[in-house]
Amino acid sequence: MKIRTHLASLPPYTPIEPFEILSARLGREPSQIVKLDANENPYGILPAVRKALAEMDFPHIYPDPESRALRKSLAQFTGVDEEYLLVGSGADELLDLLMRVFLEPGECILSCPPTFGMYPFDAELNAARCIEIPRKADFSLDMPSIRRAVDEFKPKLLFIASPNNPDGSLIEPAMMDELLSLPLLVVLDEAYIEFASPPSLKTPSLAKHPRGTASDLGASLSRIREVPERENLIVLRTFSKWAGLAGLRIGYGAFPKWLTPILWKSKQPYNVNVAASVAAQASLAHVQELAKVVELLKTERKSLLAALQGILYLKPYPTQSNFILCKVIGKDAAELKTKLAQEYGVFIRYFNKPGLRDYIRISVGRPSDTDVLIEALKKL
Ligand SMILES: Cc1ncc(COP(=O)(O)O)c(C=O)c1O
Repeated sequence: MKIRTHLASLPPYTPIEPFEILSARLGREPSQIVKLDANENPYGILPAVRKALAEMDFPHIYPDPESRALRKSLAQFTGVDEEYLLVGSGADELLDLLMRVFLEPGECILSCPPTFGMYPFDAELNAARCIEIPRKADFSLDMPSIRRAVDEFKPKLLFIASPNNPDGSLIEPAMMDELLSLPLLVVLDEAYIEFASPPSLKTPSLAKHPRGTASDLGASLSRIREVPERENLIVLRTFSKWAGLAGLRIGYGAFPKWLTPILWKSKQPYNVNVAASVAAQASLAHVQELAKVVELLKTERKSLLAALQGILYLKPYPTQSNFILCKVIGKDAAELKTKLAQEYGVFIRYFNKPGLRDYIRISVGRPSDTDVLIEALKKL
């Protein structure tokens, strides 16, 4: 039987491997692995979330296809009315849903690499093309080339991550306004916005304030509240990073009103499972505690950055996210990644892609993770 032609040549997405697989392959206990390769939250879920999961009422009943209770909590959290909100099995599902809803075979999206690899992957999965306009050397956007590509290729959707993965830079508000003036739908991916700080907001040192201070969780930088006022802005967010729910798969988005009816009828009816929904609601009910975890990670980000600056063969980039991109100088970056994993059980991300072959990306972990990583980097 012949499969769809475009799928035969589609390169597979390279996923990150979970603890148990790494553990078996390396013969190391999961506790002996330092996992800094997927921007997960090393502190895991809050005790209150664990309790809510243990006491879950109706795992034997199909979930609410409209995720009503969760969308209500999300409306409070984001300040966006629930009629604009849709929940998915990770932001990943919503990315795919958008592509399926908009793209006829042969049509195109626009993306600005280096960035999240799922944008071209999902486009190609849907028999569409991804027009790529590379970022400049400092990872900022090349606006004149974006404009030219919009004129020439008429992409329907532009995908832009802020903070961007893998460099962690935020898009300037003026640049974002310029993108929104283009004749296309802008999908702003704010998967890491909870880790970003407005320039004037100084993060108080947690050493001086051991209980931490509540982060605003990106609220002052997010553009999500603009969605109801605009026709061409979509904002995607996730619980995977700041809330530590990567393994449960739960994300959400705010969409223009004209688009929501078609999304509702195109999504799988039971796309969000009961456990994910319970965990997300419990996380939102304890958002101040999570904000302290985010502050801990932001404090550790500073320490990690300082430590990486002390490694002579690395040039770390400033970041607004829970990872740090480093240029590797005078060493083979792929080999560095392999040696860290095999000899020290430390996992970092290497991208075998044009423009990124001399780089590694390191997620921010706990202070003990930083110590193990830095020791290993010094020995290499
Ligand atoms: C920029 C970006 N968007 C979206 C996602 C996917 O998020 P989720 O786990 O909610 O599918 C990731 C995950 O790595 C990401 O880096």
